[in-house]
Amino acid sequence: MTEAKKLYVKTFGCQMNVYDSERMAETLGAQGYEQVDTAEAADMILFNTCHIREKAAEKMYSDLGRLKPLHDAKPDLKIAVAGCVAQAEGEEILRRQPMVDLVVGPQTYHRLPTMMQAVDRGERVLDTDFPEEDKFVHLPQDRRPMRGPTAFLTVQEGCDKFCSFCVVPYTRGAEVSRPAERLLREARDLVTRGVREITLLGQNVNAYHGAGLDRGEWGLARLVREMARIDGLDRIRYTTSHPNDMEDDLIAAHGDCEKLMPYLHLPVQSGSDTILKAMNRKHTAESYIRLIERIRAARPDLVLSGDFIVGFPGETEADFQATLDLVAEVGYGAAYSFKYSARPGTPAAERAIVDADVADERLQRLQSLITAQQRATQEGMIGRVVNVLFEKPGRKEGQLSGKSEYLHAVHCDGPEALLGQIAPVEIIATQSNSLTGRLTAQP
Ligand code: SAH
Ligand code: SF4
Ligand code: F3S
Repeated sequence: MTEAKKLYVKTFGCQMNVYDSERMAETLGAQGYEQVDTAEAADMILFNTCHIREKAAEKMYSDLGRLKPLHDAKPDLKIAVAGCVAQAEGEEILRRQPMVDLVVGPQTYHRLPTMMQAVDRGERVLDTDFPEEDKFVHLPQDRRPMRGPTAFLTVQEGCDKFCSFCVVPYTRGAEVSRPAERLLREARDLVTRGVREITLLGQNVNAYHGAGLDRGEWGLARLVREMARIDGLDRIRYTTSHPNDMEDDLIAAHGDCEKLMPYLHLPVQSGSDTILKAMNRKHTAESYIRLIERIRAARPDLVLSGDFIVGFPGETEADFQATLDLVAEVGYGAAYSFKYSARPGTPAAERAIVDADVADERLQRLQSLITAQQRATQEGMIGRVVNVLFEKPGRKEGQLSGKSEYLHAVHCDGPEALLGQIAPVEIIATQSNSLTGRLTAQP
């Protein structure tokens, strides 16, 4: 038997890329590639890349450059670039980096087997089509017998929203929803392999409108409710949502679907209506706040998170203040804030940018407000009993680590037999990004 070829995958960007990386590793697995943990051990290196901000794309190029000594030492080493930088820059990557053998976009990686044949013949391959066929139909089944207790499941891809700063509609293409039947099958299959929690993914996941089991079209709420009927699946999450697609039945599901976890990532980007309009967000700060009130009425203990962009072209101090006001009013359990990064090809990239020092200073002010809120949310957990799904051994001997229903990382002492199980934990302390607790009942 010939020895398996070794594949090293490095993933940048969002959870959809994490999901895609797993699917690509499986596709290449069927071609005789076995995954390894270091680039040094690999016969093939695959970077699954992100184009969302300039820094993300540049990081990919610098990481690629760092492979030079490895490539020099092993001229047969194959290097592939996938994902959103591949889609956005295509040919440019082959030009800028002669070591690269293969550039594959997020919608064509099911064709990797044929592409690899060409690469093995010594060709350099570029495939960044948006094909008619559904890549998911052509992907091999995940055949690994065991995996951790949590999994991602892409239910929707692409985006039709065209926020004026964002590359996603260009790198991922138009919104496409996968049929419910396949998703339920994939979910059941994950559960038989030990998964207890599934996060449904989409660039615009709550815009999901896939073919239902009854020939009608299902929205995300219906899909969540059907998934909730799967025995052995205990937790469902979904991300990322757009405020305008938060429909009544989905809000209601937060109130009456026990398996739907009380954590919601609902980006608003800015608290200023002028900036929201310039961003083409099609909602106002007020409509967002009213929406949050309705969701919290359905699920009062919901922990909210969001994304913010500071220094968007034209943002004044008053606009920025409106963002701080919105954050103060909403109260986030976690939030991510980014300095605006002009992305080639997007409408906002044509506009005059805010002075970099001003933008940096605003980012710091926003981040300290968010950090304070995050800390307050965490401290509010002290003394409470949360349910933790234990995912892996903790850093310290005898410790386990997992996630609460509110997506807080929780550590506590406990037996390894609890890995993959959910158990009640009383929170006794907080660290900057995690909580410490103790098991309330020994199993
Ligand atoms: N589909 C999601 C998230 C897309 S990308 C949504 O609609 O919210 C994740 C986050 O990156 C965005 O929410 C936004 O805050 C940030 N982002 C996107 N483009 C950006 C840009 N050009 N500059 C800075 N941040 C950006
Ligand atoms: Fe980008 Fe806006 Fe679509 Fe989110 S909704 S992916 S920010 S265009
Ligand atoms: Fe990045 Fe593409 Fe995701 S640009 S955030 S990897 S959709």
